[in-house]
Amino acid sequence: MVLFSHSLLTITHLLFLSAVVLCQVTEFISVDCGGTSNYTDPSTGLAWISDQGTMKYGKSVIVENPNGNRMQYRTRRDFPIDNKKYCYTLSTKERRRYLVRATFQYGGSESVDSYPKFQLYLDATRWSTVTVLDASRVYVNEMIIRAPSDSIDVCICCATTGSPFISTLELRPLNLSMYATDFEDSFFLKVAARVNFGASSKDDVRYPDDPYDRIWESDLDRRQNYLVGEAPGTVRISTSKDIDVRTREYPPVKVMQTAVVGTEGVLSYRLNLEDFPANARAYAYFAEIEDLGANETRKFKLQHPYMPDYSNAVVNIAENANGSYTLYEPSYMNVTFSFILSFVFAKTRDSTEGPLLNAIEINKYQKIAAKTDWQDVTVLEALRSMSDGSEWTNDRGDPCVPAHWEWVTCSSTTPPRITKM
Ligand SMILES: *[C@@H]1O[C@H](CO)[C@@H](O)[C@H](O)[C@H]1NC(C)=O
Ligand SMILES: *[C@@H]1O[C@H](CO)[C@@H](O)[C@H](O)[C@H]1NC(C)=O
Ligand SMILES: *[C@@H]1O[C@H](CO)[C@@H](O)[C@H](O)[C@H]1NC(C)=O
Ligand SMILES: *[C@@H]1O[C@H](CO)[C@@H](O)[C@H](O)[C@H]1NC(C)=O
Ligand SMILES: *[C@@H]1O[C@H](CO)[C@@H](O)[C@H](O)[C@H]1NC(C)=O
Repeated sequence: MVLFSHSLLTITHLLFLSAVVLCQVTEFISVDCGGTSNYTDPSTGLAWISDQGTMKYGKSVIVENPNGNRMQYRTRRDFPIDNKKYCYTLSTKERRRYLVRATFQYGGSESVDSYPKFQLYLDATRWSTVTVLDASRVYVNEMIIRAPSDSIDVCICCATTGSPFISTLELRPLNLSMYATDFEDSFFLKVAARVNFGASSKDDVRYPDDPYDRIWESDLDRRQNYLVGEAPGTVRISTSKDIDVRTREYPPVKVMQTAVVGTEGVLSYRLNLEDFPANARAYAYFAEIEDLGANETRKFKLQHPYMPDYSNAVVNIAENANGSYTLYEPSYMNVTFSFILSFVFAKTRDSTEGPLLNAIEINKYQKIAAKTDWQDVTVLEALRSMSDGSEWTNDRGDPCVPAHWEWVTCSSTTPPRITKM
């Protein structure tokens, strides 16, 4: 009888979960750039659409030796080497938060003189410089936004070497509470690090383990100057018990089921943050996943970097979360980090156990750049709609930034104005 009601509960739970997940997934947009057909990715069950119908520029290129066998990376789209910009437009709901992801895998085996280097923009805001150094690596760029209008443009431009290209473009809606900041009218959040500590393999955790399809990098996937300086005595622990993650950011249960523990009293890591120094929103994710005895305690402090309010506070995960196997999620609304982030958690003198850490996330504040004056754009759009079908009506994105359309001249003011057509 007990078993029966238990499994009934599990089934109800599963049904509820899959309903929630399905509702998210129908809103996912996944574009396979350079892809030749629409398909469902068997490894995730997600629907991918080819950009053939929507992107009129550039050409589909077969990627040599794609790393792994994900279908999205078998082709890429290469754009002409010129001074134009090439934009994808994605529909959004105004003021809703989204994760926008663009990925780049060049592929190929023989070394090339110079791999591509170019700029990535979100609307008029500079997002990233894409620099390919390792042809087999998938370069991932993620931005968390509150949609400024009913669509966004992701644009590629300004190559300094090689031909600009893109592999995938993804749009993932987030839940209400997630990634709110005090600054979202003027800043996007550029994801700088999202690390799953104590991971069971080198693989990322993402959809379906994460219903929002964030990419949680494994702490075993060490790159140069990324997650180095681990303190001696650091051990990896895991549990198969469920974790209650219902706070604000809903990290996946799978990420919270693993952690690192500093058995000699200290946990430390060092990582380079691209495009830093900068101001950032930072999150730490803790859940007590060891069954501590009555004579055992786990108490620690953030020792470095010193942040008033946080470095003085004693973390006692189970107490802060009001229970074991429950998420405690302290976050820092606005902290300045240098290019090299090194952090240390140290146990307090009266604690028997060393510090524990399940995951971290660091998002850089990226100032939203002004788009072209909206009245000028309205006039342009009216003109364009009257001459439907001409070549120049294919231009996408903002008329002036990051590169102006060939048939307009722009002022260098903020916001830019159209001075001539
Ligand atoms: C792929 O899907 C998109 C969006 O549903 C559709 O517009 C397009 O025609 C499809 N392309 C092919 C080749 O079926
Ligand atoms: C979304 O957030 C609301 C409250 O903000 C919560 O009740 C709901 O369970 C969340 N949904 C998912 C899928 O996490
Ligand atoms: C963060 O704090 C700094 C220093 O107090 C301030 O200049 C800045 O406007 C704040 N917000 C952001 C998003 O950087
Ligand atoms: C707590 O007690 C258990 C058994 O009673 C013992 O094995 C363990 O070592 C003790 N832990 C500490 C920190 O004293
Ligand atoms: C903590 O949990 C206990 C039972 O698990 C509950 O009675 C209590 O109200 C909770 N306290 C807070 C502050 O949520």
